[in-house]
Amino acid sequence: MKYNLPKYAFAALLAIALGCSTAKQDKIVQTDAQQKTQLPIDRKVDSVLNLMTLEEKVGQMNQYNGFWDVTGPAPQEGSAARKYEHLKNGWVGSMLNVRGVKDVKALQKIAVEETRLGIPVIFGYDVIHGYKTISPIPLAEAASWDMEAIKKSAEICAAEAAASGLNWTFAPMVDVARDARWGRVMEGAGEDPYLNSRIAEARVKGFQGDLGEFNLAACAKHFAGYAFAEAGRDYNTVDISDNTLHNVILPPFKAAADAGALTFMNSFNELEGIPATGNAYLQREILKGEWGFQGYVVSDWGSMAEMMAHGYAKDLKQAAEYAAKAGSDMDMESYGYVQHLAELVREGRVSEETVNEAVRRILRVKFMLGLFDDPYKYCDETREQQTIGKKEFHDGVLDMAKKSIVLLKNDNNMLPLKKQGQKIAVIGALATDKTSPLGSWRIGADDGTAISVMEGLQQYKGNNLTYAKGADVALGEPKFTTRTDINTTDKSGFAEAVAAAKNADVVIMVLGEHGLQTGEGRSRSDIDLPGVQQELLETVYKANPNIVLVLTNGRPLAIPWAAENVPAIVEAWHLGTQSGNAIAQVLYGDHNPAGKLPMSFPRNVGQVPIYYNHKNTGRPSNEDPDSVFWSHYTDVENSPLYPFGYGLSYSTFEYGNLRLSSDKLAANGKITVTVDVKNTSNRDGREVVQLYLHDLYASVTRPVRELKGFETIDIKAGQSKTVTFTIDEKTIEFYTANKKWEAEPGDFKVYVGGSSDATLNGSFTYTHQKNEKDTID
Ligand code: NOJ
Repeated sequence: MKYNLPKYAFAALLAIALGCSTAKQDKIVQTDAQQKTQLPIDRKVDSVLNLMTLEEKVGQMNQYNGFWDVTGPAPQEGSAARKYEHLKNGWVGSMLNVRGVKDVKALQKIAVEETRLGIPVIFGYDVIHGYKTISPIPLAEAASWDMEAIKKSAEICAAEAAASGLNWTFAPMVDVARDARWGRVMEGAGEDPYLNSRIAEARVKGFQGDLGEFNLAACAKHFAGYAFAEAGRDYNTVDISDNTLHNVILPPFKAAADAGALTFMNSFNELEGIPATGNAYLQREILKGEWGFQGYVVSDWGSMAEMMAHGYAKDLKQAAEYAAKAGSDMDMESYGYVQHLAELVREGRVSEETVNEAVRRILRVKFMLGLFDDPYKYCDETREQQTIGKKEFHDGVLDMAKKSIVLLKNDNNMLPLKKQGQKIAVIGALATDKTSPLGSWRIGADDGTAISVMEGLQQYKGNNLTYAKGADVALGEPKFTTRTDINTTDKSGFAEAVAAAKNADVVIMVLGEHGLQTGEGRSRSDIDLPGVQQELLETVYKANPNIVLVLTNGRPLAIPWAAENVPAIVEAWHLGTQSGNAIAQVLYGDHNPAGKLPMSFPRNVGQVPIYYNHKNTGRPSNEDPDSVFWSHYTDVENSPLYPFGYGLSYSTFEYGNLRLSSDKLAANGKITVTVDVKNTSNRDGREVVQLYLHDLYASVTRPVRELKGFETIDIKAGQSKTVTFTIDEKTIEFYTANKKWEAEPGDFKVYVGGSSDATLNGSFTYTHQKNEKDTID
C-alpha cells in the first residue's frame, strides 16, 4: 500500500474518520463501569484494530530490548537483525532501554514510516528515581512522608526522561516489603500498605501529570507478591495467604490503579503455585475485573519464558498460551508471543478476542499519550538539551534528599555541628564516593555525578576537615555481583583513620552499603555493615568516641553496636545527585531533619522479616517471668532496634490531650480523633503525626496496629498545633473471612504519636452490623 500522508497521520485520521467501533463484543470480563464508558478514544482504537492483521496485532504485544547501535548501519545477523526485521514488519509494539532523542527518533521512524500501518512504538525505561538528575532512592523518599515532595520528584523524573524521548517508566514499584535481605526494598516505600498506597498515588500522579501533555505513563509493579520472596532471596518462591495478599500486598496496587496508572507489570514469582505471568486470578479477575483497570499489563523481563523453569509450562508456546489467557498483554523479552501467539490463535487455543483485548489496551495508552497524533512528540533535540539537568531539577532533588534523611540518634545534642573552629575527621570510602549516592536503578545517570559527603561538607568553610579512607567497601570497581567484590580483609587504612580521629574534635564516619549493593539481584544474608566497616568503626571509636555515623544504604541495616555506642547516627540512604549537600546541611543544622523510617530496623538479621503491623499470636507475652513458652527469642528481644515511623529531629515534640468525638462509630457515621502536638524545643521543626488503629477481634486475626492516617506539620518553636483525623467505615474496612472488603463490628484501640510505638491512646466501638460469627452454626 502507498500513502501520500505521513504514515502516522494515516492511522490517526482513519481512526477519527471511522469514528465508531465495529469490534465484536468482548468475551473478556468487563465491569459495568467499563461498559458504560465507551470513550471516543476506544472508537479510535477499534478503528485501528480493524485494519490490523493477526501478526500485526501480536506485534503490538511484543516488547524488545534495544541494544544495537540504532543510528549505525542496520544489524545483519543474530538477534539484533531479527529484532530489526520484526520492527520493520510492524511486529514490535514497544521497546525498552532505548533512550535519547536521537536513538528513539531513529527507531520510531522505522515503526512509523516503514511499516504497513505506521503504528508508533512506545518506549519504556526504568526511570525509578530520576533519569539524569537523580532523586533519593524510593525507600529514602518514603522516609519523608511528604506526598507533595514525592510527587514533585516523580515530575522531575518524568520531565527529564520524556525530554529524552521516553514515554513510559517502569515505576512505581509498590511492593510492600518486610524483608530487608531482599535487595529491592530500596525501590519501594517500605513495609506499610497505607504509606505505600499514598506514595503510589503521589508517584503515579507525578509521572503521569495531565495525560496528553508531555508525560510518562506509569507502571505499577510487580503484580503481585514479589517482595515476599522466601528468605529475602530475589526471584525466590512466594507462599502467602489470601489474607496477606488482600490486606497487605494488593492495597497499594489498587491505589495506583485508582490514581490512573496506565500500565501494570507482573512479577517473577509464583502465587499459590501459579507464576504471576500466568495468573488469571490476579490479572483478569482482580485487576481488570474487580478494579476495572483499562490499561495494559506488561510481563517482567522474560517472566513468560520463566514459567518453564518454574515447572508450569512445558515449552514457550504453552507459556505464551497461559500468559495470554491470564491477561498478560505485553511480552517483555520472552519472544513467546511473537513466535507463537498467532499460531495459537489459528489453532483455536487462544481466542482472537483475547488478542484484540490486549491490543486495544496497548493502543489506548498510545492514544492517551498522544503518540498517534505525533509519534515524534517526545523527540525534540533542542528541548532535550534545554531540559536535562535544569537548575530547578537540582533544587528539587536537593529538597527531596534533605526531607528523606532520618535522625536515628543524637545523644547530648551532638548534632548539629558547630560551624566554626572545629577539627573534623571524615572517615570512610563512601565519604568521597561520587557514584554510590546515586544508588541502584539509576541507569540513565552517569557515574561520578553525585555530590559526595566530603564535597558537601567542604561548602562549610569554618572548620578544619581531614579525610582518611579507613577501608574500601568494595574491591576494585564496585559491581557487587559476587561476594568477593566486598572488601573483607584489607585493613591497611585503619592506622591513618585512627590518627585522623585522635587529632579531631568530631569524627564523621560515612559507612554502609555502596549504591550497587542493593537493588535487583542484590539480596544479602547478612544485613550488617559490609566488609571490615564494623571493625573500622569500633577501632576508630577507641581512638575518639565523638562520632557522627552517617549511614548510606538501600535497606534497613542491623547496627546494634552503633546504636548502643555511637552518640549520633544519621540515616542518609542513597540520596541521589545532591546527596552530599543534603547531608552537610543536615549535619550543620541548616535543615532540621524530620524523616521517619518506612521500614523497621532489626537488631539482627535473625529477626527478619520484622514489621510493626504483625499479628499478636496466641502467646504474645510472658506473664510468668520464668516461662519460656511464649513467642520470643532466647537471645534477642522481639522489638526492633528502630521501629517503623521512628525518627528524631533537632526539635522535640510532646503529644497530649487525645480526644475522640465519640466512643461509638455508627453506620455511615464518622468520628474524629484529635491531638495537640507541642514543639517543646527552641527550634522550628516538622513532625509527622501518625494515627494507628488496632482492631481487637475480628473474623480473621488483625495486626496489633495499622497505620490509618498521618499528617506532616510544621510547628514553630514553643508552639502547639492541633491535628484531627477522621475515622469512618472505610478506615476500618479489611478483607474479612467473607472474602470481601467490609467493616466488621467490634472494638478498636486508637494510637497517635510520632512513631509506630506511640503510647497515647483511646478507644471506640463500631456496632453497625450483626457479627456474622454469632450466626455460625
Ligand atoms: C526486571 C525488573 O524486575 C523490572 O522491575 C524492570 O522494570 C525490568 N527488569 C526492566 O528493566
